[in-house]
Amino acid sequence: MIEKFLVSIFLSLLVWRSVDETSPFYIPEGWPEPSYYFEGNPLSRAKFELGRSLFYDPILSRDSTISCASCHVQFSGFTHVDHPQAHGIDGLVGTRNAPALINLAWLDQFNWDGGVANLNGHSINPITNPKEMDNSMEDVLKKLNNSPYYKRRFQEVWGDSVIYTPYLLKTMAAFTVSLISANSKYDQVQLGKEQFTEQETRGYKLFQKFCNSCHTEPLFTSGQLKRNGLSYDSELKDSGHKMISGKNKDSLLFKVPTLRNIEFSYPYMHDGRMKKLKEVLQHYSNIPMIKSKVSKELKVLKKPFSDHEQKDLLAFLKTLSDKSFLYNKEFMFPKNER
Ligand code: HEC
Ligand code: HEC
Repeated sequence: MIEKFLVSIFLSLLVWRSVDETSPFYIPEGWPEPSYYFEGNPLSRAKFELGRSLFYDPILSRDSTISCASCHVQFSGFTHVDHPQAHGIDGLVGTRNAPALINLAWLDQFNWDGGVANLNGHSINPITNPKEMDNSMEDVLKKLNNSPYYKRRFQEVWGDSVIYTPYLLKTMAAFTVSLISANSKYDQVQLGKEQFTEQETRGYKLFQKFCNSCHTEPLFTSGQLKRNGLSYDSELKDSGHKMISGKNKDSLLFKVPTLRNIEFSYPYMHDGRMKKLKEVLQHYSNIPMIKSKVSKELKVLKKPFSDHEQKDLLAFLKTLSDKSFLYNKEFMFPKNER
């Protein structure tokens, strides 16, 4: 016990030594230690602000038309709501729904298939993906190094007159790792400042029994790869983690997504196949228990949810909405640019 306590204090000190007090990053009360390695990318206000400018700047794409925010829109929890799969450069459509970017510091694998282990390196994927930003790192760095504005700002943060790949990638991570949502009604209830309605309480109980094993509080994801009974789409041909590992046993394993702000992050699932939360709840009511498609945590679902139970669950899921996150001015398109 004491050892565990000392380890947690030690970890907190490590985090705080690497996050300067001006940075918007914080650990909400009662939350576990983040898994992000802050020592590898110490956070500061200036780095966060530079990451924010770049997140909203199409300069990162080949033809300067697509920014990160084209697909990751704040008011929907940093995903996109207007189509199932991501739309990138030249109107090209990818095969996956953009995941919400929320509380990423607590995750240790990224993308729907868990194909990326470190947030610091992640941005190279959208920047070079031919259906997203379709750029080369060489070209991005050339563009940034030719911009007196960015040269000055990178110099302020990194103390170097030349912009290199790690500076860019870590700066992007400094922004995305700071997108914390911890001020929903659910959180207020946990802090004893608000109360659930009777319906929300009933929904919470159902949630704890049937959903929490994978969508684990307080992050509402265990961060692990699981199967939740979706069928394989023979057009999109997305087999999840198998595409990374090459192993049949990993077929249809997808990363458990957070349910924070779920009311606003539609459409749902890795390919955006469900438009409404009602459809999702109907799905969990009628999963054929085929071993190859369903992880063991879902075996507790022995009978369909009644209409009432679905409404109760829905009411609970809506308590995870956090308007102070979706409309947080610190995360918006930066004003006073250039
Ligand atoms: C064309 C749309 C598009 C653009 C542009 C885009 N993304 Fe994404 N983003 C996606 C999709 C789709 C995924 C899921 C990819 C996968 O699972 O293979 C994703 C995944 C992510 C993830 C992983 C989240 C998680 O929980 O696993 C992060 C972080 C991220 N994007 C940040 C960025 C940043 C930073 C940029 C700009 C440099 C960016 N994205 C540009 C569509 C986009
Ligand atoms: C076995 C673990 C597991 C359990 C238990 C589970 N889920 Fe899921 N859930 C997942 C996975 C994995 C996905 C993503 C699947 C995909 O896209 O291929 C998901 C996706 C979702 C989504 C869509 C999220 C998004 O951003 O697209 C919602 C909503 C959801 N689950 C709600 C629930 C509810 C409500 C319950 C309880 C009735 C539940 N889940 C139980 C693993 C689970």
